[in-house]
Amino acid sequence: MTFAETANISADLVARLRGARRVVALTGAGISAESGIPTFRDAMTGLWARFRPEELATPEAYMRDPKLVWEWYAWRRARVEQAEPNPGHRALVELEARVPDFLLVTQNVDGLHARAGSRRIAELHGNIMRTKCFDCDRVAGELEQWGDAVPPSCRHCGGMLRPDVVWFGEMLPAEALGEAMRASTISDVFLSVGTSTVVEPAASLPFYALRGGAVVIEVNPDPTPLTPHASFSLRGPAATVLPELVAAVFPEGR
Ligand code: OAD
Repeated sequence: MTFAETANISADLVARLRGARRVVALTGAGISAESGIPTFRDAMTGLWARFRPEELATPEAYMRDPKLVWEWYAWRRARVEQAEPNPGHRALVELEARVPDFLLVTQNVDGLHARAGSRRIAELHGNIMRTKCFDCDRVAGELEQWGDAVPPSCRHCGGMLRPDVVWFGEMLPAEALGEAMRASTISDVFLSVGTSTVVEPAASLPFYALRGGAVVIEVNPDPTPLTPHASFSLRGPAATVLPELVAAVFPEGR
């Protein structure tokens, strides 16, 4: 039995994806798990084990202890820089090349989709490799340009710099969210990969797609609140399932 059969990549699923014109792929931390980046629901490791993301990824935490929050993100950035895109990221690059109208919507801040070669990306929660000013909101330059102040100061207004990511309680970037909602609503096929589907507004995107008549395919080793509503649920890790899916849909390769 091939993996395609075990992951129940059915002929019907293959036909739907092969015939799709507009495809949206929503990804969460699960697609980066096989690149060695822990998911949100995994415990935080090492010296950060005593914290929960909800305690550090907030404007209040940053105002209370900017050095601690900055150092947590520096630790996370170092892990991201050591990580490499995995076959799951690369399968979505392949899918983008084969589908007439493809949008990748990610909740991840690790930048691995862009490093894998994805082009049309809506980053709903920002990007940990980008830094901006807490006061004037301007995006700052590359990390190595700054002195050793922690956190560094903004060149334009002298305010504190912060990671350009969405913190709990903050608004999502309106342009990225608007593009994601529009594309989901008119999609023919919506892939939900590696997300627990509990954090809004991203968790509503597959339901916009369902209401628009799309086929919804979930890729996750575990069930989520989306599972009962999905047209197809592929139980397995993204780095294995996505390459299998793309190979089954486009067997002739590039
Ligand atoms: P979670 O950590 O909530 O969920 C990760 C999901 O990935 C779970 O459903 C796992 O079952 C699944 N998973 C684990 N390993 C996998 C693998 N190898 N392949 C596929 N799936 C796998 O992460 P997210 O759903 O991304 O928000 O969390 C959404 C948001 O919650 C994050 O963006 C963050 C957090 O609060 C902000 O920071 C604003």
